[in-house]
Amino acid sequence: MSKTEQAEQLVEELNQKTQDLKINVDVSNRVKGGIAINLADKLPQSTKDRFKRHGLDFSRGYPEKPPTSEIPLYIDDAQKIRDSTIPYTLRGKDADPEFKALFAKTTQVKHLTKYIGTELVGVQLNDLNEKELDELALLIAQRVVVFFKDQDLSPKKQVEIAEFFGIPEIHPIAAHPTGSEYRSLRVIWTEHFRNLAPRETFKKNKVGTAVWHSDHPHEHQPAGITHLHIDATPKTGGDTLWSSGYAAYDKLSPAFQKFLDGKYAYQRSLNSYLDRENPLGGAKPIERKQPIVRTHPVTGWKSLYVNRDFTTRIDGLEPEESKLILEYLFDVYEKNLDIQVRFSWASKEGLGTSAIWDNRISQHVNVHDLIEDNDQQRHGTRSVSLAEVPYFDPNSKSQREALGLSN
Ligand SMILES: [Fe+2]
Repeated sequence: MSKTEQAEQLVEELNQKTQDLKINVDVSNRVKGGIAINLADKLPQSTKDRFKRHGLDFSRGYPEKPPTSEIPLYIDDAQKIRDSTIPYTLRGKDADPEFKALFAKTTQVKHLTKYIGTELVGVQLNDLNEKELDELALLIAQRVVVFFKDQDLSPKKQVEIAEFFGIPEIHPIAAHPTGSEYRSLRVIWTEHFRNLAPRETFKKNKVGTAVWHSDHPHEHQPAGITHLHIDATPKTGGDTLWSSGYAAYDKLSPAFQKFLDGKYAYQRSLNSYLDRENPLGGAKPIERKQPIVRTHPVTGWKSLYVNRDFTTRIDGLEPEESKLILEYLFDVYEKNLDIQVRFSWASKEGLGTSAIWDNRISQHVNVHDLIEDNDQQRHGTRSVSLAEVPYFDPNSKSQREALGLSN
């Protein structure tokens, strides 16, 4: 019997013994794997067409979760999943700084704002080879997020791109498109989320991705290059914003930068798990300590690595001090419009849009304005390439310092 099944049985026995007192741990709901709820009929037409064109078979149901036996119940099991360093190839470091191969395939290079966000027009991600992807890694390291509209991206190519950029993240709980070969893709879908968290309303929509965040900062090797491909793009709404961590760091005074350099903060996971010692005490997130200022291994520039959703406290400070400082740092990221880009995913009928960004040097937030809009579904697949163990190089420079820009 698996640990999960043991826990389910334990809760069941306890509930039978304590007739009037239902134990408040819904183990079965937390850990049901496979095709737990089949939403295939509700898939938007453009998503179905994309899957059919590229041989993704969802006739068994959609979406799929990892097998029940592989879903961790206890926090120590969840933490063990990627607890030691996994080697990976750093991309972009030796790429052509003029991006000649990549740009030769594009008809237009559009910088959407001064400090963050570039759209490459006329190029299909499906057609990029390793040299061009390597140049793309450098462009992302400099521009933070790069966009591609009107794409016909095969889910297999998305998996390959994620493998090229780093260690593909396989989530222990989250839903993926049907088929074990798609475990490294995550389903991002209004209908699916509605099922997971039916509490969303116009007045109360501050859940999940409605708060500024960077993905998976609690990992031993957190998210690096991350790719969201939206294949059902609403005509209006469902935008996403990104903010630059390089620029957020550059907004701080030299004295405050010096104070933060070399300090650490705790980052928590989105998902929670039970404590083996106190299984009925409620679920807890995984926490790991990461540098507050981290150096990007490709550009060598410093970036501010804290976010409102997942950063819980600064190591070594009193709780009141930590709260005050973190609040200010979150504001710097969230309130400076000159270091942000807001992007609409809309593309030509039947095609999709990709955003590929670097979670080491940014935060993002989704605008939840599709809550009651059943005709305008937003569906996509997201891959995360995990990167290096975060580090702070005391000899590294800020972006403005390195580029010789004025303060
Ligand atoms: Fe996210």
